[in-house]
Amino acid sequence: MNQKKNKLDKVELNACFLNKKNPFELFKVWMAKAKKTEINDPNALALATADSKKQPSVRMVLLKGLTGKEFIFYTNLKSKKSHELIKNPKASMCFHWKSLRRQVRVDGMVKKVSKKIADQYFNSRPYGSRIGAWASIQSAPMQSRADLLKKIQEFKKKFPENRKVPRPPYWSGWALQPKEIEFWLDGENRIHERLKYKKFGSSWKKQILYP
Ligand SMILES: Cc1cc2nc3c(=O)[nH]c(=O)nc-3n(C[C@H](O)[C@H](O)[C@H](O)COP(=O)(O)O)c2cc1C
Repeated sequence: MNQKKNKLDKVELNACFLNKKNPFELFKVWMAKAKKTEINDPNALALATADSKKQPSVRMVLLKGLTGKEFIFYTNLKSKKSHELIKNPKASMCFHWKSLRRQVRVDGMVKKVSKKIADQYFNSRPYGSRIGAWASIQSAPMQSRADLLKKIQEFKKKFPENRKVPRPPYWSGWALQPKEIEFWLDGENRIHERLKYKKFGSSWKKQILYP
């Protein structure tokens, strides 16, 4: 069964290697597959940033937008990651789908999404998440959890559920425009398959890499 699945996967990768000029098309195929097989959060990715002393740091975020040119996630603009991205707008993303034994790496430059896009996404979030965005000074030290719970109650009073909750000015999205995207597919005896796309101007060039 597993062998059969592996063969199918290889055909899929090779076919994509031959046919897909744009890595976003291949990413969408892989993400659609992951949505069917991952227990939860197929859109989870590890996001690496680096501070002004070049110290990298990595944490998970959720992919909430894919435009064909950009990978978008949302966060607090006062968080550690945002501070780092403001000073050094380069980032690296890594998706790992255990159920498929696949990985996708995405490197590039980030910029903040427009206010309109951020508002649209913020308004689509559940009420509790919108209130949480107001109450949490993400990544700042907290005296006690009770302080946070108190702030949540205060913001619930300020923005009742039946009224519009505006987007906090310190909460928005980052869009990563990739320069490189690499697809990794598990192979027998660790003879994995790797396909890397690099962007030159407006077009993508592909190469396969040793595993
Ligand atoms: C599966 C998963 C998904 C997450 N998604 C997000 C997200 O989309 N945005 C976010 O700000 N934090 C998210 N977090 C929390 C971050 O990993 C992190 O704790 C937080 O953003 C603070 O990171 P920072 O101090 O490096 O800025 C997620 C955590 C996990 C485990």
